[in-house]
Amino acid sequence: MDLEDESDPGLAGLSPEFQAMLGGLSGHMASFSKLLEQRTLPKEQAKDKDDEVYLDSYADLGIHEDMLKDTARVEAYRIAIEHCARSWEGREVTVIDVGAGTGLLSILCARQATHVQVHAIEASRLAHFLRQIVETNFGGFDTKQAVHVHECLAEDFQLSDGQKADVIVSEWMGYCLLYENMLPSVLSVRDRYLKKGGVMLPSRCRLLMAPIQDSWREEKLGFWNSVCGIDMSALVPLATATFCSVPQHRLVNSAVLLGDAIEIAHLDLQTVKCEDLDRFQTDVAFTLPAGTRLDGMVTWFECEFGDAGWQLSTSPLKPATHWKQTVFYFRDPVEAGGGVSISGRMMLERHNEFSRGYRATFELKIPGRKPRMEVFELR
Ligand SMILES: C[S@@+](CC[C@H](N)C(=O)[O-])C[C@H]1O[C@@H](n2cnc3c(N)ncnc32)[C@H](O)[C@@H]1O
Repeated sequence: MDLEDESDPGLAGLSPEFQAMLGGLSGHMASFSKLLEQRTLPKEQAKDKDDEVYLDSYADLGIHEDMLKDTARVEAYRIAIEHCARSWEGREVTVIDVGAGTGLLSILCARQATHVQVHAIEASRLAHFLRQIVETNFGGFDTKQAVHVHECLAEDFQLSDGQKADVIVSEWMGYCLLYENMLPSVLSVRDRYLKKGGVMLPSRCRLLMAPIQDSWREEKLGFWNSVCGIDMSALVPLATATFCSVPQHRLVNSAVLLGDAIEIAHLDLQTVKCEDLDRFQTDVAFTLPAGTRLDGMVTWFECEFGDAGWQLSTSPLKPATHWKQTVFYFRDPVEAGGGVSISGRMMLERHNEFSRGYRATFELKIPGRKPRMEVFELR
């Protein structure tokens, strides 16, 4: 989206003072967004293209290897499935795994008890190998314990007449929880096939953020001041605009945290609707201690698996995961001086061009200083 476009519906929710500020910011940003913006397809075709590129990315084994080696992720799901399955023995249990990938979650579920039927849905070309993995692990077993592979989009998946699922398991979370926008695919299966009282794994998720002081921002941008002894500082404004217009997915040290966690989103997977994912708005209020500097905000997410608890966290205070953290480095860091209280709000809105993306906006008020706005594109 071009920030010069004053009629941009995404700006409608911004307060008048921040809309006014955007005038000054837009000229600065617009040239870079034009540089970055290559999109010419009409919206519907663009969405199809996004879906194609997205599913192609999952046909690549590298991402699956990273996910399977992510011990925190794998253990969270393993413990959650084992916990959930304590009541499965002696019952006919139907599980749907939305986005089964290499089949890890489907197979973990199928192994829990004798009469478990798992429907593993996978839309990428990996489904071909998923079938082989299932055959290798279940060929010759009691047919009542089975994984059925469905090579299709979750949205097109159908169960035979009247059949419903006891459990829907899915690992749909992207960077900053919502990026990738896979959750609506899971909800389309939930709304058609989850039994009343059925279980969603995960069952609740929350997205959190906290202010940080992180010298990595300065190091990254300071690089241009001297490259092999050549002063390239002319590039610092371009580097700043580029680096600070998209979030950075990286592991931050917990020592960079300047304040407590603020909740951006809280999703109950039993009840959340697709339209609830369009826009989140959170009030922000924190005090920067004397002598510190606000370089940006770090976000992470946590997932609860029913009464197995909050098993998965991508917090900087927890062991690293392949999601790392998502960091929004500000164009204009805020020096705390003798200490300063900051208030404002953060908005996370669906990107209106990149169907799997979001736009994050931070509006900050600092006593005695001009209000600030920082805008980021997750795409
Ligand atoms: C994050 S991976 C998880 C893979 C596997 N469940 C695991 O835990 O290792 C998500 C998977 O969902 C698949 N996927 C995403 N959207 C889908 C959709 N709408 N229908 C079917 N599969 C989808 C992707 O191709 C990918 O393999």
